[in-house]
Amino acid sequence: MKEERNKELLERAGKVIPNGVYGHMSVGNQSPRTPQFYARAKGAYLWDYDGQRYIDYMCAFGPQLFGYGHEEIDAAFINQLREVDIATAPSARMVELAEAYAKQITHCDWSMFCKNGTDATSMALMVARHYRQKRKVLIASGAYHGATTWCSPVAHGTLPEDRAHFIHYEYNNAESLRAAVAEAGDDLAAIFATPHKHDIIATQEPPDLDYARAARAACDEHDALLILDDVRGGFRIARDCSWQAIDVAPDLSTWGKALANGHALSCLMGSDKAKAAASEIFVTGSFWMAAAPMAAALKTLELIQSTDYLEHTIAMGQALRNGLEGIAKETGLAISQSGPAQMPLIMINKEDGRRDMKLSLAFADQLLEHGILFHPYHNMFFSNAISDSDIDQTLSACQKVAGAMGQ
Ligand SMILES: Cc1ncc(COP(=O)(O)O)c(C=O)c1O
Repeated sequence: MKEERNKELLERAGKVIPNGVYGHMSVGNQSPRTPQFYARAKGAYLWDYDGQRYIDYMCAFGPQLFGYGHEEIDAAFINQLREVDIATAPSARMVELAEAYAKQITHCDWSMFCKNGTDATSMALMVARHYRQKRKVLIASGAYHGATTWCSPVAHGTLPEDRAHFIHYEYNNAESLRAAVAEAGDDLAAIFATPHKHDIIATQEPPDLDYARAARAACDEHDALLILDDVRGGFRIARDCSWQAIDVAPDLSTWGKALANGHALSCLMGSDKAKAAASEIFVTGSFWMAAAPMAAALKTLELIQSTDYLEHTIAMGQALRNGLEGIAKETGLAISQSGPAQMPLIMINKEDGRRDMKLSLAFADQLLEHGILFHPYHNMFFSNAISDSDIDQTLSACQKVAGAMGQ
C-alpha cells in the first residue's frame, strides 16, 4: 500500500490543526495505515490521496444513504443553489420539507431544522426541560448523543454542573429504567433512547419491547417527553421513525446524517403535545435554514419513498453477514457480528468470547490492502450503492485475511 501523500498531509495537519484531525473522523485509534484523508468519492467508493480505491462501509459515518455524489440528489442541491440557498430568511423548501416529514413520519406533526445531530439532540433537551419546567433527563449508559458540554463522551472542558441533572440507566433493562425514573421523581423532564443499542465496541442489541414500553409509560405517567435519537438510525432502519416498527411513538425524535444524503441538515421532529414548548425556546444558527440541503433532503425523501433502497441495503448486509459466518466457521477466526444487517458491528473476539481489540484492528488493517474499508470498533453503514460484486470482492478479501489470521 502506498501511504506517502496521506502521511505528508497528516504531518502538515498536525502543525495547524489540533490533533491533526479531531473527533470521530480521526483515525488515531486505528491502524496507522488507515487513510486519514480522501481525495475522491463516488457511489460506494472512496479514493485516498495515494490513488487507492476502497469499497466504503462507513458512508461518512452515516450520511451517505444512496451513495456518494448521487446525481439526482446533487442536481436538486445545485439547482437550489442557483436560486437561493442561505438568505435573510428561509425559502419555501423549508415549509415543503416540514410538510413532507409530517406526512411520512407517524409521530411527527412539526419539524425544526438545524445542521448537526448535536444541534437536534440539544434542542430536544431544551424543549423537554421547558415543556413542564423540569430538570432530570435519563440517558442510557454508553449511548452517544453528540459532542457538547452535556453529552460529549469525553468530559474534558465540561463541568460536573453541565451534567448535574442526568441519570443513567442500562439500555434494554426495564428495571434499571424504572429505578432511574424513581430517582428522578417529580422532576423527570425526558427519557432519551436510541433506536437500538449501537454503542461502540459493545454488542449491538435490538430494542427490547418491555424496555421501550416502560419508557413510554414512564413519560406518560410523569408528563415527561420520550425522545428517540434517530440521528444514526433514521431512514436506515425504516421509512418512518425507527420505533414505529415496535409501535412505540416518541414525543420528539432527532434526525441528521442520512436526511439529505450527505448535505448538511439535521432536524428535530415532534408531536403536537410538544409544539408549544418548542415554539417558546430560542434556538437558531447562521446556516440552519439554508435551502440547498433542504432541496437535497426533499429529493432524498422522494427516493426513500419510491425505491427499494431499504430492502437492498438489508439484502446486501445480510449477504455479507452470511458470508462472514461461513468464513468464521471455515477459518476458526471468531468474527463477531451484531446489529441490523445494514448497520453491522463487526469485530474479532477472543476464545472466551470477549472482544479482542488487537485482532479487530488487525482485521480492518489487513482488509485495507484489498481495498476494503471496515471500521474496527464502530458500527458500519451500507449505502444503496453497494452491489453484489462489491460484496463478492469484500468476502473474498475477508476469506484471505481471516484465513491468514485464523491459523
Ligand atoms: C445517535 C447519535 N446522536 C447524535 C449524534 C451527533 O450527531 P452529529 O455528529 O451530527 O452532531 C450522533 C453522531 O454520530 C449519533 O450517532
